[in-house]
Amino acid sequence: MIPKNISELVTFSPNRFEPIHDWFYYKEGYAKKLVEWLVKEYNLEGPIFDPFCGSGTTVLAAKQMGIESIGCDVSPLAVLASKVKTRNYEVETLKKKLGEFREMKVPPEQLTPRDERLRKIISRGNWEEMHFLKKKIEEIGDEKARDFFYLAMVDSFGAVAQVVKVGGSLRRAKKNVPSMKKFFERKCERMIRDLERGKKGVEPEVIEADARVFNLEENSIGSIITSPPYLNKIEYTTVYKLELILFFKVQETQLRAFIGDEPQNIRGTKIKIKNFQKFPPIAQAYFEDMEKVMVNCFRCLKPKGKMVIVVAGGCLPDRIIQSDEILCDLGQAIGFKIIDIIAAREIFCHANRSIKIGKVRESVIVLEKPEV
Ligand SMILES: C[S@@+](CC[C@H](N)C(=O)[O-])C[C@H]1O[C@@H](n2cnc3c(N)ncnc32)[C@H](O)[C@@H]1O
Repeated sequence: MIPKNISELVTFSPNRFEPIHDWFYYKEGYAKKLVEWLVKEYNLEGPIFDPFCGSGTTVLAAKQMGIESIGCDVSPLAVLASKVKTRNYEVETLKKKLGEFREMKVPPEQLTPRDERLRKIISRGNWEEMHFLKKKIEEIGDEKARDFFYLAMVDSFGAVAQVVKVGGSLRRAKKNVPSMKKFFERKCERMIRDLERGKKGVEPEVIEADARVFNLEENSIGSIITSPPYLNKIEYTTVYKLELILFFKVQETQLRAFIGDEPQNIRGTKIKIKNFQKFPPIAQAYFEDMEKVMVNCFRCLKPKGKMVIVVAGGCLPDRIIQSDEILCDLGQAIGFKIIDIIAAREIFCHANRSIKIGKVRESVIVLEKPEV
């Protein structure tokens, strides 16, 4: 039976109340409970693969259910979040390190950001604390502990910067914020508490890779649960640009879509899509890339293995495109059988924030690789 709150489960919101899932707020994610429901409802078997793993909802939920899993993502921030949330830790090592952080005093260094935009959103005190913490965390020898504290620091920076993530952009906002070091220490304390209450399990493999070219062994995967970027949306880079630039050495010019990012270079899908030639280049490039990913997914699935895709349609300035229909057409042409298309919710599309263009569906598509 379809859960009554499916419209909520396709969003990250319910994860804000789930231990470990809430360690890093990922705007584009879906809920742990959606993964749990899908596994039960469709008898999904492991290993589970998520080619767009984001903040790790699929791989963490799989670990918590005792199922082996693999995830990949192009974003180094997403990969770090997924790894940190799914590892088994020596909690005593983390506690000891946190104790050391508490003892440390931040020396006043008169540091201010060089970029004027940054000066407007972060106080000098917090900028100094961020630099101090970053340096100390980078000195930690144990990789798991280093990554654990690094993620806590990245999240703490987002919390104390005078910005909010609205829609697909960052907006300046006056916030009453604590000291970054205090926030970081409290965050680490909460994360350690979650680990003490949780269970260890099989650690998933999480890889920084591009799903358009990343290949797993043929017939090696039991199921796929994933959500690609949505057509004409690049929130996963734009709203995290501060974090990506400051902590992952990503240049501002490198912030791009990764799916559909070469509209000037369209070759056309190998499979014929109805009305493809009438689509704007951005949509053609998107479906061309999604075809590559779906072909890779079909290949690595075991026969009878299912692929679940959570996707919303694209809002373009002059039209809407229902991506679920097109991905189903692509899936069928690749060889998948369509098991279900669940319309989870509708989203209004506006041009210039006010002119209504139409409504797109956000759907859960369930496909199956037939037995040969
Ligand atoms: C909708 S989000 C997935 C969110 C995830 N389900 C969760 O709950 O956190 C899509 C993800 O795809 C990633 N991505 C975009 N293009 C990619 C590509 N070509 N290969 C792999 N990952 C990609 C983005 O970095 C983003 O994290």
